[in-house]
Amino acid sequence: MCGIVGYVGSKQACPILLEGLSKLEYRGYDSAGIAVYDGNKIDVKKARGRLRVLSDMVDGGQNVKGVMGIGHTRWATHGEPSDVNSHPHVSSSGRFAVVHNGIIENYLPLKKRLMEKGFQFVSETDTEVIAHLFEYYYKGDLLEAMTKVLHRVEGSYALGVLCSDYPDSFVAVRKASPMIVGVGRGENFIASDVTAILNHTRNVYYLEDDEIVMLSADSVKIYNTDREEIKKEIFRVNWDVSSAEKGGYEHFMMKEIEEQPKALRDTISPRIKDGKIVLDEVSLTAKDIASLRKIYIVACGSAYHVGVVGKYTIERMCRIPVEVEVASEFRYHDPLISEGDLVIVISQSGETADTLAALKEAKSRGARILSIVNVVGSAIANASDDVIYTWAGPEIAVATTKAYSTQLAVIYLIAVYMAEKLGKLTDEQYKNLISELSALPDKVAEILKNKEEIQYLASQFFSCKSIFFIGRNIDYAVSLEGSLKLKEISYIHSEAYAAGELKHGTISLIEEGTLVVALATGSALYDKTISNVKEVKARGAVVMAVTAASREHTEDVCDYVIRIPDADELVLPSLSVVPLQLFGYYVASLKGCDIDKPRNLAKSVTVE
Ligand code: F6R
Repeated sequence: MCGIVGYVGSKQACPILLEGLSKLEYRGYDSAGIAVYDGNKIDVKKARGRLRVLSDMVDGGQNVKGVMGIGHTRWATHGEPSDVNSHPHVSSSGRFAVVHNGIIENYLPLKKRLMEKGFQFVSETDTEVIAHLFEYYYKGDLLEAMTKVLHRVEGSYALGVLCSDYPDSFVAVRKASPMIVGVGRGENFIASDVTAILNHTRNVYYLEDDEIVMLSADSVKIYNTDREEIKKEIFRVNWDVSSAEKGGYEHFMMKEIEEQPKALRDTISPRIKDGKIVLDEVSLTAKDIASLRKIYIVACGSAYHVGVVGKYTIERMCRIPVEVEVASEFRYHDPLISEGDLVIVISQSGETADTLAALKEAKSRGARILSIVNVVGSAIANASDDVIYTWAGPEIAVATTKAYSTQLAVIYLIAVYMAEKLGKLTDEQYKNLISELSALPDKVAEILKNKEEIQYLASQFFSCKSIFFIGRNIDYAVSLEGSLKLKEISYIHSEAYAAGELKHGTISLIEEGTLVVALATGSALYDKTISNVKEVKARGAVVMAVTAASREHTEDVCDYVIRIPDADELVLPSLSVVPLQLFGYYVASLKGCDIDKPRNLAKSVTVE
């Protein structure tokens, strides 16, 4: 939530900040602002609304002069989206300008103290206390003021701070909120994520918690909170610049749906060598795996839905009990974790606050953490014992697609890897599963060739008021994701149910014309799900089925049938989710929704 960018160099800062913010807008988009040192004072411009409002205000950056500045795009937490609550926030004297991502948990007592000392607050934000604290502690040394501020604040933060006494440099810090430092030639950057600076440099430092960075055009110095300089290694980012751009697509979401075959290939193929799954990242030995009593999977939103597939898959293949839980619940129910239990944490961003907190909770109880993460060097990756990266590349659309698919692929890799180590697979089964995994990217590509079919179906149903998704076992897990995809971007009310559960209450909502999307992909439960389809049809529902190519007679029962390629039941979720992503996308598009930036949402949720 909230995106930060900062620049110091010899070029005009404002256009660079605006360009960086345009790449970070997915992190929050209810207001935006910049602060640029104009050679004399700090010039602040900020506005409620999308970045284009700010951009128009500063004439694309031409109106604001200066070669050093910071910028922010906001997802409101404290105080409504408004001009005054937008960042940057300035101290009373105008000497300091601050951008912040995260939450200052003790801002109320700090605000009270500062008000008693005569500081006047203009906004409702937690961030404003930081600007005033800098003013309070500053005695001519910016680094010293920073360390004093850090000793007072509690919570999570990524901060960029300009001080008008420092015409050539600015400071930044992070704790439990992301921030990277970009190192260029004669120019340096900070950003919430690398996509914001990829056009300028690929050399980055990943900051650890409470590492303070002081940047000028020619130098980047990193300090700890005792103001001792720290030496860090520069990391070279190999993401393609185009991966963070729309490249001719109307929306990032469609681009990312289309990128799934490549993302799957990049995630799966390096981990299959000579016909074996090789997970160099996993330190669990065969003996460790054999002694696992239980596995927990913890995540939020779509990543949690991957976990639900993971439960079915790992339990079936490895015969180890798996509990899957949303992170915001897990962390507060005193989970029954014992020393050595395995907790699989799934997160695209690697910075989701609840997921990170659940990870820490599990770790403090002696669990071993294996995470599945997309963003390299993120907080969740750093806090884990082992990390398997999903090589999906940057995911910009708020609604996840390619990250979900690659997380699923990693879950399969883990399940097959562990099942083999446990001796649960014959050679032939193992070989067959590996070839199923290798074939996934092409099968997804095949589904994407029939986008028009889904577009047509979307045109039939985009004015529905409510849509139900049903399925059994892994089909139920995918129903959860299909329903979320649809509702979050199209704003159509939607629910997912285990197909056998409808008649315990929900079926009373089915009336003439209600759309029910039925997933009936696997052969084992096909007939059972079709019986549930008949139940809703008898109550007037219109049924759209998603099934595998070789299932028979689906058309006899269902009004519309989407066919996916045949595959082993293990990997069917990777295929069945694709038409559902497309369906959500086209429905939202026909309704004229803001697909990449749905209302009220932000890409990475760094608040509880
Ligand atoms: C939905 C979506 C969210 C995320 C969730 C977790 O399309 O993207 O539900 O899956 O917020 O985010 P990460 O994976 O970054 O922890």
